[in-house]
Amino acid sequence: MQQVTIKTLDDMKARGEKIAVLTCYDATFTHVVESAGVDVILVGDSLGMVMQGRENTLSVTLEEMTYHTACVARARQRSLLMADMPFLSYASVDRAIDTAAALIQRGGAQMVKLEGGGQQLAAVRALTENGVAVCAHLGLQPQSVHKLGGYRVQGRDEHQAERMLRDAMNLQEAGAQLLVLECVPRLLAAEITRALKIPVIGIGAGPETDAQVLVLQDVLGITPGQPPRFVHDFMKDAGNIGDAVRAYVKAVKSGAFPTEEHCFS
Ligand code: KIV
Repeated sequence: MQQVTIKTLDDMKARGEKIAVLTCYDATFTHVVESAGVDVILVGDSLGMVMQGRENTLSVTLEEMTYHTACVARARQRSLLMADMPFLSYASVDRAIDTAAALIQRGGAQMVKLEGGGQQLAAVRALTENGVAVCAHLGLQPQSVHKLGGYRVQGRDEHQAERMLRDAMNLQEAGAQLLVLECVPRLLAAEITRALKIPVIGIGAGPETDAQVLVLQDVLGITPGQPPRFVHDFMKDAGNIGDAVRAYVKAVKSGAFPTEEHCFS
């Protein structure tokens, strides 16, 4: 079985082939997601809401992230396994190294993800110089929800947009090998995707990014409450969970998802 590596994802970007990413937090769903052909599994700190019923991601601990990453790692076969570094667990370079060590050595993660731009360059540089594969995360950064004053689209004004493009270039230069853009206007996400050599994963960032990510429970239409605009319920037209995840992967890879209705301007 051909493993998905960062090289696989770089080659997919070079060929213009779309990459399907999905969150997952346990072993059973990892089997489902793997057999549907997902390229990258993200053990997101969204597990705070999805698995633990919390209001946001802020109280998710490193122990909890490590536990869920290990659950997924035991069932993972082919896809690349990425895990979120929890809130404030990378506030200094030393803490970032310790956090990555736990997620990789105890959790079995192959890549770690952290939120933020310029303030994270030192951590990204230190991690990557020490052999850690890092995914950066710009746009809406859920760990900064209180600072942002809510979950809102980022990069709408010219100044913010320029800063996001600059941050993305600097993160790539510091060694980041993937970038998530969350809730970013479509045209800005397209510009950043073109400007970067590394693959860009979008969520609420339009169809031009190299990859798409959604929360698994959103794809299955089982998240309580009103879903965000960028979510599509793939269960509606599927007979079972496996078919719904396969439909998500197919729609990402064919470019059928996301459509205009899932985008921000
Ligand atoms: O925590 C998470 O699930 C995420 C994504 C949805 C990008 O960071």
